[in-house]
Amino acid sequence: MKNDNRMTLTQFLIEERRRFPQAAGDFNSLILNVALVCKRIAGHVAAGELGGMMGSASATNVQGEEQKKLDVVSNDLFVQGNNWGGYLAGMVSEEMDLPYHIPDHYDRGPYLLLFDPLDGSSNIDINISVGSIFSVLRAAATDRPPTEQDFLQPGKNQVAAGYALYGPCTMFVLSVGSGVHGFTLCPQLGEFMLTHPNMKIPPETQEFAINASNGRFWEDPVRRYVDECIAGKSGIRGKDFNMRWIASMVADAHRILMRGGVFLYPRDTKDPAKAGRLRLLYEANPIGYLIEQAGGRASCGGHPVLEVKPTDIHQRIGLVFGSKKEVERIEDYHAHP
Ligand code: AHG
Ligand code: MN
Ligand code: MN
Ligand code: MN
Repeated sequence: MKNDNRMTLTQFLIEERRRFPQAAGDFNSLILNVALVCKRIAGHVAAGELGGMMGSASATNVQGEEQKKLDVVSNDLFVQGNNWGGYLAGMVSEEMDLPYHIPDHYDRGPYLLLFDPLDGSSNIDINISVGSIFSVLRAAATDRPPTEQDFLQPGKNQVAAGYALYGPCTMFVLSVGSGVHGFTLCPQLGEFMLTHPNMKIPPETQEFAINASNGRFWEDPVRRYVDECIAGKSGIRGKDFNMRWIASMVADAHRILMRGGVFLYPRDTKDPAKAGRLRLLYEANPIGYLIEQAGGRASCGGHPVLEVKPTDIHQRIGLVFGSKKEVERIEDYHAHP
C-alpha cells in the first residue's frame, strides 16, 4: 500500500515543532482541529444534493453577499470545532459580523484564528471545487477577550496559514513558517498524508487568471499587463499566454502553487466603496503567506500584501499573486505607469 511510508499531518506537526523546544501542544491542537473541521466540511461538500445542504441560506453576510447554506454550516463547524480547545483567544470569519469570543466556560489560549469557511461558495451548487482558508495570529493577551484591534495585524505576523481544497480529492495545504506542504486526504484512513512536501512556485509562467468581465473597471497598469499577455508572441512578451479562472480563489491558488501562474483580483472602480473584491485578513493574507513561503510573491499592486496594516476586520483589498517575476512586472507597471 503506497500510504504505508507516508507521514501523517500529526507526525509532520510533531517533527516540525521539535525544532521549537518552547512549543506547547496548543499549536498542534489548533492545526489538527482545523484539519478535522475541514474533513467534516469535505463530507458535506462530497454529499452534494444528497446531503440536503445545497442552495441559499436566505441570509446575507456583513459583506452584503448572499450566504449559501454551506457557508453557514461550514462557519458553525469552524466555531464549534475550535472554541473548546483552550488554544484560542478568539476568531474572525467572513460569515460573522464581529469577532467571536470564547465562551466563559472554556479556557482562552494564545492564538487567534481567522477564516473563510467556504471559499468559492458561488460554485458549490454546480459541483466545482471550493475550499476553506485559515490564518493564525498570536493574541495580544489571554486575560481578556480580544478586541477588533487585536486582529488588525499585518500578514507578516502570521504564525501559520493554510487551506483545504475540496476538489476531486481533498487536500490540506499548510505553512507553519518553513515552506509549504501539501497533504492528501486518504479515504481509507481518514488522515491527511504528506504528498506534496516543499511546494515551490516557478518564477516564470505563461498562465494568468483574472475575471476579464471587469476589464472596463481596471487600473491602467493591470490593463497594460493583461493586454500584453493577450498579445502573446506578437507582443512585447514574445510568448503566448493561457488564461484560467475558476472563481474559487483557493482552487486558482492551488493551481499556481502546483505549476505556477499569476492571479489578479485588482482594486477596480466597479464599486468605489470597496477597495477590491477579496478580504485582507482571511483571504489575501493567508494565501499571500503561502505564496511567499513557496517562493512566489503576493502584492496589492503597489506593495507587498503582507506589509499592509489592516484597518477593519472585513477590509477588502486588491490582490495579485503567483510567479515572482510576473508579480514584480505588475508592481513595476504600478510604480512606473
Ligand atoms: P467567497 O465565496 O468566500 O465569498 O469568495 C469568492 C471569491 C473568490 O473565491 C473568487 O476568486 C472570487 O470571489 C470570484 O469572484 P467573481 O465572482 O468576480 O469571479
Ligand atoms: Mn462569500
Ligand atoms: Mn472567499
Ligand atoms: Mn467564503
